[in-house]
Amino acid sequence: MAEIAELCAREVLDSRGNPTVEVECWLADGSMGRAIVPSGASTGELEALELRDGDKSRFNGKGVLTVVNNVNTTIRNALLGELPFDQASIDSILLELDGTPNKAKLGANAVLGASLSVAKAASACLGLPLYRYLGGIVGFNLPVPLLNVINGGAHATNNLEFQEFMLVPAGFDSFSEALRAGSEIYHTLKDELIDAGVGAGIGDEGGFAPNLADNTEALDLLMKAIEKAGYKPGEEIYLALDVAASQFYAEGKYKLGGKMLDAGDLIDHYEDLLGRYPLVSVEDGLAETDWDGWKLLTTRLTDRLQLVGDDIFVTNPEILSKGIEQGVGNALLVKPNQIGSLTETLRAILMAQGEGYHTILSHRSGETEDVTIAHLTVAVNASQIKSGAPTRSERVAKYNELLRIEEETSAPYYGPRIFNQ
Ligand code: PGA
Ligand code: ZN
Repeated sequence: MAEIAELCAREVLDSRGNPTVEVECWLADGSMGRAIVPSGASTGELEALELRDGDKSRFNGKGVLTVVNNVNTTIRNALLGELPFDQASIDSILLELDGTPNKAKLGANAVLGASLSVAKAASACLGLPLYRYLGGIVGFNLPVPLLNVINGGAHATNNLEFQEFMLVPAGFDSFSEALRAGSEIYHTLKDELIDAGVGAGIGDEGGFAPNLADNTEALDLLMKAIEKAGYKPGEEIYLALDVAASQFYAEGKYKLGGKMLDAGDLIDHYEDLLGRYPLVSVEDGLAETDWDGWKLLTTRLTDRLQLVGDDIFVTNPEILSKGIEQGVGNALLVKPNQIGSLTETLRAILMAQGEGYHTILSHRSGETEDVTIAHLTVAVNASQIKSGAPTRSERVAKYNELLRIEEETSAPYYGPRIFNQ
């Protein structure tokens, strides 16, 4: 029998140098699963609670020793002796143990770390890679990577309001060719930024963080870099934005480029950008509390743009279901630590897919070497993955894992099919 024989946690560091929790689940047959939980910077208000110690004498209050202790005592005691193969029942034990709507008692970081480590231990015990264990023979498409090559907003100290400017290499036959194009364009962009004297330092997700006149200058630079690297914008490479609009929204207005805009003005702006650039996707185009604005955005642009809900849905099946009912967005960004367990994450994904919403597995700005999202993407046949720039090991770890999966499975690339262009 391969029941859970040990569960233990430790405090490790994430890519920003902040502490986070790593959990190991050991089975009686010696199999082990290990998971590290990431951490966001532009978090949605309704995300499950990331518990931190608040003890200013350690890591400026950001320590996670309480979480480590919760895993090593309460969670460990509840899971010892359980079989790891029924993920839904493991997760329901965890949810009951916590008992709060947002995992405030144990911490979503404690619960997710335990939840993922059990799934990984189960897959190790069966001798299957995680994507096979979770997806069976159904999961075999490789996602289009959304490569965040210019960083702004909460991820950089520059003046760009939009948080992420992404390359979408959809027009290729394979994931590896798409990734190569992304890398080549990234390096061309670097030369361009150096030539322009605007700074080629990088932000939290590995993209450059230049000081530019405005957001459209970033898009112009991307267009130039794509062409200079020898690729065709609008045929091979498209563009995507994560506006993260909640970050510049207050009292019903969006403060952009020194102007105060309402939702309608901002939607006009996106429509204008659509006419000028091969833009296929806008994430968090409006603030998470501006549901009326979101409805208008969806009505106006759903046929022309992928409208991705991140902060507004926070990977929460209940909030997503409200969004579907009200005609909000047409794609779901999936961050397992926004909701805090694998089962609830899968529920949100299946709900989205059942309603024809695209799904995009996503990293956080504070990441680690953990590659779970690469496996999840393939397991659930998500059409896209967002893991930052094609640089910095915590970002490329996910892309590299997808290269391995591509080699192992000859899985087809989602690319040319997703945006019907
Ligand atoms: P975060 O941002 O990980 O800093 O919350 C990522 C995103 O908004 O997609
Ligand atoms: Zn986002």
